[in-house]
Amino acid sequence: MMVDISRRKALILGGVGIGGVALGGTGLVLNQKSATTRTAVAGSGVALVLPTELRSSNGVLTVALESSPQRIRIAGRDVHALTYNGGLPGPTLRVRAGDIINVSLRNGLTDPTNLHVHGLHVSPDDNSDNMFVMINAGDSFDYSYAIPADHQPGVYWYHPHQHGSVADQVFGGLYGAIIVEDPEQIPATRERVLVISDISFDSSGTISVATEMEKMSGREGELVLVNGQLTPELNARPGERERWRVVNACTSRYLQLRLDGQQITLLGVDSGRFEAPRGVDEMILAPGNRADLLVTARAGTSTLRALPYNRGTSGGMMGSTGSNSAEVALATFTVFGADTAAFAAIPDQPVPPDLRTGTVTARRELVFAMGMGGGMSGGMMSATINGHAFDAARIDTTVQFGSVEEWMLTNTSTLDHPMHLHVWPMQIVERAGQPVEEVIWQDVVNVPARSTVRVRVAFTDFSGRTVYHCHILDHEDAGMMGIIQAL
Ligand code: C2O
Ligand code: CU
Ligand code: CU
Repeated sequence: MMVDISRRKALILGGVGIGGVALGGTGLVLNQKSATTRTAVAGSGVALVLPTELRSSNGVLTVALESSPQRIRIAGRDVHALTYNGGLPGPTLRVRAGDIINVSLRNGLTDPTNLHVHGLHVSPDDNSDNMFVMINAGDSFDYSYAIPADHQPGVYWYHPHQHGSVADQVFGGLYGAIIVEDPEQIPATRERVLVISDISFDSSGTISVATEMEKMSGREGELVLVNGQLTPELNARPGERERWRVVNACTSRYLQLRLDGQQITLLGVDSGRFEAPRGVDEMILAPGNRADLLVTARAGTSTLRALPYNRGTSGGMMGSTGSNSAEVALATFTVFGADTAAFAAIPDQPVPPDLRTGTVTARRELVFAMGMGGGMSGGMMSATINGHAFDAARIDTTVQFGSVEEWMLTNTSTLDHPMHLHVWPMQIVERAGQPVEEVIWQDVVNVPARSTVRVRVAFTDFSGRTVYHCHILDHEDAGMMGIIQAL
């Protein structure tokens, strides 16, 4: 194992700029600004708070949601952020397969907004997960999502999807988790929802406005928060088993997560469940990805860290980097006290489908490209799929309901693009020309700079019109999005 002394030191100081200088990154010093001096090992001294939970009963969850700017406290400062129901993150929606979620969304923002239930396999039409709904400032809209009875359990999330302002609204604080419960409970001591997001404020406590250059690489916030908190503390007893539901709600930041000293079992990423749970030391969550995992607690203090991650540079004369060049201490996990009894084995998980053995009815390629100039919104960058910037009036891809397609995702640019398809999950079958051995299902698939990924998609259960896009939300807003229609 490589030990990077400078990183260690940076981490202990709590302000993390050293790695950035070493990597020749943006020079941006990622400083987890806290009102108090502290060491990362001791954490902030503030216990992790879970978002409010709203649970379905008798098969229905009815939620009144309001997006609005609020004065809230983050990292010891009073700031202005965007909130759902006054909180950042918004409430966690906890449901079961077969349930109906009714969300009445009131737009208390000064700009149009709407709602997307990311990863849920639900209809994209009418007042379900419809990307073509726009709710003006002051208006309301009633969404209703019917979750199929055979829906995959796991971690999902919701956020606005108003083209052109998605990055601003998500960066500002609009996101929340959705949990679809397991048909058969996995025994655990407790469950924690960890919504990880990043945000920056100016000196007056207002959300920082991203520059064109930051948008080109995808903005990254200076503060990396867990449930809106800076370096919260989690406690457990040795032997306890915790269920963690982790959401990467960052606008552009990749999270390469580690929790050294603890035993992590990954059940799956996004809606995908592995055939068998996997022991892991590390996992990478691109923006939009989620992890569903178990932590078996071992005595000692561990730090949940996001390591520096290199997602390339947006080239040309601008030379803007997409790399987060500093390590971040996200939370501390302190395990002490008497040992608890060992837990029962994890019940067998349903065997995931494998499209590799089936027939492919159509093949196509999506080329993700970035360039300078020609930005439709007057920006300096172009961000396209198959040469086109998003146009709400154009259908880019028509697929047949019930078909299985194979898509070659080609990234010609020097930055990674996390590709996301709504409604239908993707099975990753090949990376950089190498076949993938395991069955991996995700709804956000990273396509590394100048590389390719091949996926298969089964267009089952729902027809209708929705979108695919890069989940670096500044890229999506700049046009790296297309419309797909299943007929
Ligand atoms: Cu998480 Cu189209 O979005
Ligand atoms: Cu989505
Ligand atoms: Cu992108």
